[in-house]
Amino acid sequence: MAFDIEMIKGVYARMGERISAARQAVGRPLTLAEKILYGHLFEGKPTKPYERGKDYVDFAPDRVAMQDATAQMALLQFMQAGRAQVAVPSTVHCDHLIQAKVGAEKDLAVAKDINKEVYDFLASVSDKYGIGFWKAGAGIIHQVVLENYAFPGGMMIGTDSHTPNAGGLGMIAIGVGGADACDVMAGLAWELKMPKLIGVKLTGKLSGWVSAKDVILWVAGQLTVKGGTGYIVEYFGDGAESMSATGKATICNMGAEIGATTSVFAYDQKMKAYLESTSRADVAAEADKVKDNLRSDAEVYADPAKFYDQLLELNLSELEPYVNGPYTPDLAWPISKFAQAVKENNYPQKLEVGLIGSCTNSSYEDMTRAASVAKQAATKKLKAKAEFTVTPGSELVRYTAERDGLLGIFESIGGVVMANACGPCIGQWARHIDDPNRANSIITSFNRNFAKRNDGLSATRSFVASPEIVTAMVIAGDLTFNPLKDKLINEDGQEVMLDEPVGLEAPSKGYAVEDAGYQAPAEDGSKVQVLVDPKSDRLQLLDPFAPWEGVDLKGLKLLIKAKGKCTTDHISMAGPWLKYRGHLDNISNNMLIGALNYYNEATNKVKNQLDGSYDEVPKVQRAYKAAGIGSIVVGDENYGEGSSREHAAMEPRFLGVRVILVKSFARIHETNLKKQGMLALTFANPADYDKIQEDDSIDILGLTTFAPGVPLTIVLNHKDGSKDEIKANHTYNEQQIEWFKAGAALNIIRQSVAQ
Ligand code: F3S
Repeated sequence: MAFDIEMIKGVYARMGERISAARQAVGRPLTLAEKILYGHLFEGKPTKPYERGKDYVDFAPDRVAMQDATAQMALLQFMQAGRAQVAVPSTVHCDHLIQAKVGAEKDLAVAKDINKEVYDFLASVSDKYGIGFWKAGAGIIHQVVLENYAFPGGMMIGTDSHTPNAGGLGMIAIGVGGADACDVMAGLAWELKMPKLIGVKLTGKLSGWVSAKDVILWVAGQLTVKGGTGYIVEYFGDGAESMSATGKATICNMGAEIGATTSVFAYDQKMKAYLESTSRADVAAEADKVKDNLRSDAEVYADPAKFYDQLLELNLSELEPYVNGPYTPDLAWPISKFAQAVKENNYPQKLEVGLIGSCTNSSYEDMTRAASVAKQAATKKLKAKAEFTVTPGSELVRYTAERDGLLGIFESIGGVVMANACGPCIGQWARHIDDPNRANSIITSFNRNFAKRNDGLSATRSFVASPEIVTAMVIAGDLTFNPLKDKLINEDGQEVMLDEPVGLEAPSKGYAVEDAGYQAPAEDGSKVQVLVDPKSDRLQLLDPFAPWEGVDLKGLKLLIKAKGKCTTDHISMAGPWLKYRGHLDNISNNMLIGALNYYNEATNKVKNQLDGSYDEVPKVQRAYKAAGIGSIVVGDENYGEGSSREHAAMEPRFLGVRVILVKSFARIHETNLKKQGMLALTFANPADYDKIQEDDSIDILGLTTFAPGVPLTIVLNHKDGSKDEIKANHTYNEQQIEWFKAGAALNIIRQSVAQ
């Protein structure tokens, strides 16, 4: 950790003067999020204000965290940068590929076996390039990051949508795609549209059955799954300061459910206590020295409506527990109304399984509060009526919870402890159910509850609540049970009520762990061999993309003219293809198979101009590649919207597509294409889309004088010998034009490292 504390001191030293400069540039007091954002500009000291919701800004994050599924391509790409070490501290966490079937020990052994090649690759590439590696079983990325790396005022990106969890320790932590992680590790800037801000003022205090989880379940109900898009949510007020750091992390984690860029709390005594209890008193001491920089300016707290784009207020003393769902996390029911909702909507009343834990809710506080409920089953002569699983978020929490008898309490009511991994949260749950088509209800303390999310079954209605409410419901086996007012009948036929949960924010004997599952990187990675089996169908080392030939591109065949919506999922489908995410050649067999062909309104059926036949898009493109002929993809509006999947840009590049010409791009995909050395162009006149014909050979002219703001000329050579000449716009700046010429952004970095 010594390296980390020096890094953190450096961040705090820089932030001070940058915040003063930002206050001057913006001309008003700053909120916490603004302090952290302006404190992490790639350019250094702020010289001008950035308009929220409008300006794109280059940032320099302090850390990168990657989970095992998304790390594969990020690291394969990073290897192309030619660096000896990552540019910023980075970690890999093996958590997503472990299936929850029978229990921790056996499931982990199976996962290590079937994912061996992936784990070996990730361990060796981490070892070589100075990346901290957390083995399978060590824990879930966000919990491990919170326990070890998150720090107040820091900025982190992570290749997982719940990266904002670290906001519980006052960090701006944002979920990104693998390409962004690769760039930051390679030393490039990371671009983000300056977010707008939502303030949430919390007053009062949590008590009884109400927990931090209920705050975010309430917020989700207020803002809906789209309400946070493009916003950072800042929580503040006495209520915020009364909540544990891990409770704050739960709230920030689930900010992803309202689409928020991230969520954050200001540094306070609760964060200090958590840092100290997780062996980071040194970080707390440094944060104490700069605490005014780790919270909004006083004027913001005095008149928040003036500084936030939206403001919500919540009195924690008046909050009730919530149960959200099914199918969407913003369908928010206060528990007093939930029983009626179950009846009116015909949700299956019988609760079949309750699941607690995950990256969202597996803190020591969560475990003790849930255990205090579970314990009452024995004392009050109750038997749990539903199945029960427990997924600890990390080995640190699991080991400590076992030592303190908490896991034993869960097991006493039939709880099965799963591996410290994502498991049932991400469909990696081999659920035992008699009839997979039977409508049934489950409840989790996780974050997402979309159809099929947990067990892959569309008939399952999944609800979300706090771990203590889930545990109470497991005992009752009934979704209409409200532990605040309802009685249960025990084995002696007596009516009993469950007492309110009680918990501890931190273990009284301190945290303990025997083997946290961490592998530190080699001191000198130069001799470390990255392990990739050349015969693997899941992993493949990348070769650098070839540089531009230095001449105009002529005779490009039209591969497909896509009609209507073409998201990154249409370009590179997920589902079963995800298994090949580390193997560019294999995953390229899904290229554009979801796109609608303008000429025949079919998917995955395009004309091969070489022989006139119709075939699958990847096959036709491979035929052009084999013949040494480049091709062009034409698209409609907002091409490449959706998740920032880098494969959607890499696959066409890999298979020899040279140009993507569309009416308009989704910004992230356009940037991803540029990074891969592709030409991403837009019709100067969108109506020219109609001039593209199925048998066109297309020339791109003007590349030898390619310059920012200067349109390129496109000649459409039609089959009948006629031609059309049209103009194409682009948004390349000087640097991006260099990426194009070099063949990819990473090629430039490799060249500069080699010099
Ligand atoms: Fe894993 Fe589910 Fe969290 S997939 S990272 S436990 S949201």
